Amino acid sequence: SSSKTLSPTLHLGQTLSFTGSPFTEGAEAARHENAGALLVEGGVIREIGTAEALRAAHPAAKLVDHGAALIVPGFVDAHAHYPQTGMIASWGKRLIDWLNHYTFPTEARFAERSYADEIAGRYLDLLLAHGTTSVCSYCTIHPESVEALFSAAEARGMRVFAGKTCMDRDTAPEFLRDSAQSAYDDSKALLERWHGRGRAEYVITPRFSPTSTPGQLQALGALWAEHPEVLMQTHLSEQTDEIAWVKSLYPQARDYLDTYEAYGLLGERGLYGHAIHLEPREHARLKEVNAALVHCPTSNTFIGSGLFDMDGLTKAGLRVGLATDTGGGSSFSMLRTMAAAYEVAQLRHHPLHPSALLWLATQGSAISLMAEDRIGNLAPGLEADFTVLDLASTPAIAQRVAQAEDIWEALFPTIMMGDDRAVRATYVAGRQML
Ligand code: GUN
Ligand code: ZN
Repeated sequence: SSSKTLSPTLHLGQTLSFTGSPFTEGAEAARHENAGALLVEGGVIREIGTAEALRAAHPAAKLVDHGAALIVPGFVDAHAHYPQTGMIASWGKRLIDWLNHYTFPTEARFAERSYADEIAGRYLDLLLAHGTTSVCSYCTIHPESVEALFSAAEARGMRVFAGKTCMDRDTAPEFLRDSAQSAYDDSKALLERWHGRGRAEYVITPRFSPTSTPGQLQALGALWAEHPEVLMQTHLSEQTDEIAWVKSLYPQARDYLDTYEAYGLLGERGLYGHAIHLEPREHARLKEVNAALVHCPTSNTFIGSGLFDMDGLTKAGLRVGLATDTGGGSSFSMLRTMAAAYEVAQLRHHPLHPSALLWLATQGSAISLMAEDRIGNLAPGLEADFTVLDLASTPAIAQRVAQAEDIWEALFPTIMMGDDRAVRATYVAGRQML
């Protein structure tokens, strides 16, 4: 099949791409072509334009006609826990009890490589079925869980960001603990083995300060200083009980962010998941270092964490990505995640335009991952990861779209009501994977 991807292919359909951010430029930052085309060659997007112009310029290209369907950049999920695939939608608990009751027993199973392989493959296939082509995922403390995910991603050609989750404090169960030294050694070995191999990107991953000792945070801060080219991901200020817990475990810290800052874990390549209940100092420091925040709206409502301040944080110029946070999040779908982001924004009285929702799920997330030169848009030179959406995938959506007067009215019902049935095809580096 690799020979097939090398010859130029012209994909015809409606297209949506971005020339900037809708947060700063409004909906004009999105470019819609009703009869558009995408020229793909060697796994890369070569050109985007009208069907008429590209067909005339490339008469020998193979044609794939997607009809009235909408070609969008593949969705980029900026924060997820693939090991939690099998326990998604677990009932009735808030963060700390949810971790102890559901999450940790599930993650313990990843000591076994065959189980990790099974879930990694299942998870990535679920992502592709939902139109997601890239993810930034936590693994478990077991190096095998990282091997499993990167191997499954390599087999599918996907650009996946991931790292070994590190926990060495007695707040985590003994069967899920590493040490400061083994976390450093294992993370370093995995980073050296996987980072930049094909499309794999290693991410240094302390779970969050309550499950690490200061010594472990310091060791991982040192590793990051030795490898400033990689991302670092963790959790920040998700739930008020958690923040109180952090204060009791780190009595000398000025605030939650300070527990990372003090050990070298605050920086521009840092990804801070949730970031709901921020103090003014935290907000200012995150902005100062140009850190990225990741909004996980289905998780924040499902676990009962709170309402992310999208308007305030984006107006302040912070970089924000969008994510499912599977399995604290209740869905694998970035469409469902955009719908939840819309609902949370409504509760804060700052509705998000469909162009902003789609941008967050694609280019915004790519920018949070420092990967906008590779993924997250339909533009020449970017990797050919794209998703083909059926904008009338169910009778309920179709009857609404029949009355749509522009592309945003045609897309918004699929954002709010769509699921994997709306995903007609998913392409990874030019290859059809669904
Ligand atoms: N904080 C620390 N670990 C987790 C996790 O697995 N999920 C969520 N939602 N928050 C966390
Ligand atoms: Zn998380």
